[in-house]
Amino acid sequence: MKQLDKLNKLFLKRFRNVEATFPEYCNDITFDQLRFSGLPYLPLDIAVPVEKILQEILTVDLVAHRDDHGEHNGWHSFSIHGKSETATREDSYYNDNRPMQWTDKMPTTVKWFKDVYPADNFARVRVMRLDPGGYISIHSDTENSRLDPVNISVTQPEGCDFVMEKHGLVPFTVGTAMWLDVSNRHTVINDSDEPRYHLIVHAKPNKKFEDIALKSYKKLYNKG
Ligand SMILES: [Fe+2]
Repeated sequence: MKQLDKLNKLFLKRFRNVEATFPEYCNDITFDQLRFSGLPYLPLDIAVPVEKILQEILTVDLVAHRDDHGEHNGWHSFSIHGKSETATREDSYYNDNRPMQWTDKMPTTVKWFKDVYPADNFARVRVMRLDPGGYISIHSDTENSRLDPVNISVTQPEGCDFVMEKHGLVPFTVGTAMWLDVSNRHTVINDSDEPRYHLIVHAKPNKKFEDIALKSYKKLYNKG
């Protein structure tokens, strides 16, 4: 465990201040081209009701996430939409046919996802908590480069850093909905005395999402 912590800190030190490499701007880019463009992350123009979401998060019990081999430390999760509230891992891990369902413990958050969030077809939607002093070990989630999950910061304590190999610190502030290419190796270290609460959203992009992504792309390059 200590060794992992040391590795994470070395990674953080090496890449924290690296400037992200963004591909050249393309004025008439399509949604699919954007998705596979090599952009490491894209802050999406989505207004997130963080206070209401946090209020509900604080009422639910989170379970330890991916702690089988001590690979992470202080990482907990709760499924807002999933096979169950405690089924926080990928579908293939469970290998069963339980249907996905919404929790009834976070009604305002669920309503926001159903009525406002730009998706109709959701896979896993989870609350993630990284405890003070906790870390998520260096990993990449997929081999294929593409923007896929959206990571929403509900809280963002100072000293809690999400760092991507070759792209540096991912610029989260409270309420950022960040579309991420998690084929890039990354780590998160919470060197603060507050828990960090995020949501991870896996969903199929709909037209509304595509429009938001293209608009957010222009904004990122100051063309909007
Ligand atoms: Fe990850």
